[in-house]
Amino acid sequence: MKLVFATNNLNKLKEVQEMLPNSIELLSLKDINCFDEVEETETTLEGNAKLKTDYITNKFGYHCFADDTGLEVESLGGKPGVYSARFAGEPVNSENNMAKLLLELEAKENRKAQFRTAVALNINDKKFLFEGICKGDILKQKQGEKGFGYDPIFKPEGYQKSFAEMSSIEKNKISHRGIAIQKLVEFLKNYKLK
Ligand code: IMP
Repeated sequence: MKLVFATNNLNKLKEVQEMLPNSIELLSLKDINCFDEVEETETTLEGNAKLKTDYITNKFGYHCFADDTGLEVESLGGKPGVYSARFAGEPVNSENNMAKLLLELEAKENRKAQFRTAVALNINDKKFLFEGICKGDILKQKQGEKGFGYDPIFKPEGYQKSFAEMSSIEKNKISHRGIAIQKLVEFLKNYKLK
């Protein structure tokens, strides 16, 4: 079965392909000649993940899944959430995003936050949603050089280091995206058996 992962990130694609049985062949957007930019106009992670997935299924007819992630900070009422990529404005800039977040949290005692990933799947005319959450705290300053986005200022619960101080293998085991994708993979494995 061919299944489109609505992403252009080949690392993400390879990582998920390795978790799937050989009977499922993952295709990237490039593989299906989709070079369209699907704007993330919804106000929830689930909405944006569905938007991307529905676009591909409707236009190209493939089974498809897409993910959308946000950082939800408790004392900011869940902000930046669905707007995490552009928190400090356009163009997307992680350094500016982190600086803005650190500033907004300067006077706050509560630094609890969670990364949340929503994955939407369209398969055989049915729609499914999967969620992955990684709880933690926002550090007072950046730590580590690895990863991307808010990784240097996010310390997952139960660890004494930031995401940016972890190898990708270590991070993927506990990360929001890792958990959501793991749920999707388990679902697909069982789905194929039916
Ligand atoms: P996306 O939905 O995966 O594109 O994520 C949206 C934004 O959330 C990104 O631009 C990053 O700023 C942030 N983000 C998503 N996943 C992570 C992560 O694993 N670590 C740090 N930041 C992330």
